[in-house]
Amino acid sequence: MERLQKVMAQAGVASRRKSEELIVAGKVKVNGVVTTELGTRVSTTDRVEVEGVQLVKEQNVYYLLYKPKGVISTANDEKGRKTVVDFFPEIAERIYPVGRLDYDTSGIILMTNDGDFSYLMTHPKFEIKKRYIAKVKGIPRREDLRKLERGIELEDGMTAPANVKTQSVDKKTMTSIIEITIHEGKNRQVRRMFDAIECPVLNLKREEFANLTTRGLNAGEARQLTVHEIKQLRVLAETGKLG
Ligand code: URA
Repeated sequence: MERLQKVMAQAGVASRRKSEELIVAGKVKVNGVVTTELGTRVSTTDRVEVEGVQLVKEQNVYYLLYKPKGVISTANDEKGRKTVVDFFPEIAERIYPVGRLDYDTSGIILMTNDGDFSYLMTHPKFEIKKRYIAKVKGIPRREDLRKLERGIELEDGMTAPANVKTQSVDKKTMTSIIEITIHEGKNRQVRRMFDAIECPVLNLKREEFANLTTRGLNAGEARQLTVHEIKQLRVLAETGKLG
């Protein structure tokens, strides 16, 4: 059973908030009866009509986007900036990003209209791996990198254990390239972790999400996930192992 406004949003009627307005305005019928209750729950066997038109559940779709820098990872932006959804002008389904990447971060981001899948990919209890390459200012000390690996105190709590490896150091520019793998997704986590050791991030790319990479794509390009990949991602979240 799902909330009526969620079912409407998933069917592509409108956003959840707009769907709520339609419900309150008496424009929605469930099994032939007008329903103005926002708490109403419906199942797949209930017949939902909006302004006389029966809803058909959207097919679930799954994409992998290589997000360039300078793009916001929400479905809409009130400041009119380019969003990750703008890369899919031909897609009729109401897709949205799975988790977030900062405006200035590039790399892999999944897009879907499947809320259950999105939950499996983003809830920290499923520990989906995210691998980043960070160019940072300075040359982090070994013990600081160990701190990042063990977990470091941020303002919203300790980070979970991470894997951290120095890939290269440029003594001329005093910058370093560091690979960091985390299994959670606090807001701006990687940037805040490096801020905490006073080596701020200058450039950040997400190279890997679960077992997927941007291989074969240029920045701004996307591809559909294969049925096999979708299945593997679900198994990975549910069992911690690839199927
Ligand atoms: N950590 C960050 O700081 N930024 C991102 O976009 C992703 C992880």
